[in-house]
Amino acid sequence: MSNIGSYEERLKNFDWSIAEKELGYEEGDKLNIGWYCSDRICEMGKKDKIALYWEGHSGKERKFTFDEIRIDSNKIGAFLRSLGIKAEDRVCLFMDKIPELYIGFLGVLKIGAIAQPLFSAFGDESLHVRLDNAKTTAILTQRKHVGKVRRLLAKSPYLKHIIIVDHDGKKPLKDREISFDMENYEAPKDFEIHQTTAESPSVLHYTSGTTGQPKGVKHVHYSIISQYLTAKWVLDLQPDDIYWCTADPGWVTGTSYGIIGPWSQGITQCVLDVGFSAENWYKFIEKNQVTVWYSAPTAIRSLMKAGEKVVQKFDLTSLRHLASVGEPLNAEAVVWSEKVYGHPFLDTYWQTETGSMMLTNFPGMKIKPGSMGKPFPGITATVVDTKTFEPITEPSKIGLIAFKPGWPAMMRTYWENEETYKSKFKNGWYLPGDRAYIDQDGYFWFVGRDDDVINTGGHLVSPFEVESALLEHEAVAESAVVSKPDEVNMEVVKAFVTIKPGYEINDMLELKIMNFIRKKLSPLAMPQEIEYVDNLPKTRSGKIMRRLLHAKEWGEEIGDTSTLEDDE
Ligand code: PRX
Repeated sequence: MSNIGSYEERLKNFDWSIAEKELGYEEGDKLNIGWYCSDRICEMGKKDKIALYWEGHSGKERKFTFDEIRIDSNKIGAFLRSLGIKAEDRVCLFMDKIPELYIGFLGVLKIGAIAQPLFSAFGDESLHVRLDNAKTTAILTQRKHVGKVRRLLAKSPYLKHIIIVDHDGKKPLKDREISFDMENYEAPKDFEIHQTTAESPSVLHYTSGTTGQPKGVKHVHYSIISQYLTAKWVLDLQPDDIYWCTADPGWVTGTSYGIIGPWSQGITQCVLDVGFSAENWYKFIEKNQVTVWYSAPTAIRSLMKAGEKVVQKFDLTSLRHLASVGEPLNAEAVVWSEKVYGHPFLDTYWQTETGSMMLTNFPGMKIKPGSMGKPFPGITATVVDTKTFEPITEPSKIGLIAFKPGWPAMMRTYWENEETYKSKFKNGWYLPGDRAYIDQDGYFWFVGRDDDVINTGGHLVSPFEVESALLEHEAVAESAVVSKPDEVNMEVVKAFVTIKPGYEINDMLELKIMNFIRKKLSPLAMPQEIEYVDNLPKTRSGKIMRRLLHAKEWGEEIGDTSTLEDDE
């Protein structure tokens, strides 16, 4: 029997208080995600249960019980406090998927500070704009990434502490740097968890928009209510499961479902901190006897590409339930996974701003391959007309996805950007910025984004960020960045560039431009192609029309260009 049981019954009786009761939370109580994910699990008698199996490069392994993550997160909390870090200060976690990242996340939350996880592959500029926007006080990082942080110091006066979690004592520490060794740091005797409540800020995840700098999505501790229940019902986590979420906690999936969802119910999870290869992944599943696997369409398409033969080399019979998020999961991938793993990947739809799953396929539900499924109980979802923002009642007519605000994990605002936050609401609906339709059976089908943001391999890339990086190169006069189709990543980044007089377009110049922007951006945001053009299409007032370039790349009709030439 699955945790969700009958969807129809759940819809009838649904109230978020189901999760509150299971978590023993009552309105007005103190509420701290760090406590819920470690201390509470120990108090429930699971202190010796494994919380984390970790594997890194060269087969290096570490494992932690719930009691160990409780103690170690207390250590991190105590250490941060000893530096003077207090509630609501922003503490960035800038690490690979090492245990200190997962445990550090809980430690930051335990002292009431705001955890700001950032993808460790970010280049200097991507890192800087996010730290600068949040005025981050401290950053927890590794030796291998500290160089990037050092280069930002001169322009980051607010950043007071650079905490290196793997300092080996060989090289001297530099300005503002301090070493923290989780294993050998003395456990605090009476560690007090900060008295956060439901609306205390918890996590700040940065997400890219079409224009402007990335936005800090502010979440609160109450988000655990939705993350706990969706993990339980959609991922169907059961006490003996070994769960693997392949997402990096630099992105929301890696925190909502790579930390909070599973650990708040005392589930053992495993983490693989090595790059992708089908063999590595299957070996990891076999070795850890993974039962529940939450991944992303690009990874699944890469596994499909690797083929069935490699699957047969491993025993993957432990797998019981598979789910996916981040980009459209094509029907073919659903059918293929059922054939080769014996279980289909079930699609889930949500975003950084929603904090938890919104549209879901879950065990026991009739799956329509290619569909995002149905709203999670407690979520009022529809598609609305693009102009009136009224719900569309006609089946299969395309509109904007819309949610009634009010679920626990909904973002509370964009960091110091209330105006943009407000702009996401129309006619009483929260609009995530995606187009979809609902079929006659109530299933949601993804159509596309309603803006220029590029979703490459499940990662959102702001064309603006890439264009800005390009423009900083001395040879670039103008740039426009759009997506182009790609077999595995669905879409990849393509840049159109005009060059300043006096520069010659050749391979050397391209190499220079690529190297220049590589230092600024994350590898995910790197253009796969630069096309040099004499002019870029513009509106009458000079705004570059990305939409024309996009249509060309995708072989789509350009449509009525007279309206495009206005600034609408
Ligand atoms: O466009 C949608 C796409 O990813 C966006 C959210 O990205 P992000 O905030 O980075 O969070 C990703 C992980 C939660 C959405 O606005 N997206 C997400 N899930 C799906 C999807 N597109 C199609 N199908 C999905 N299942």
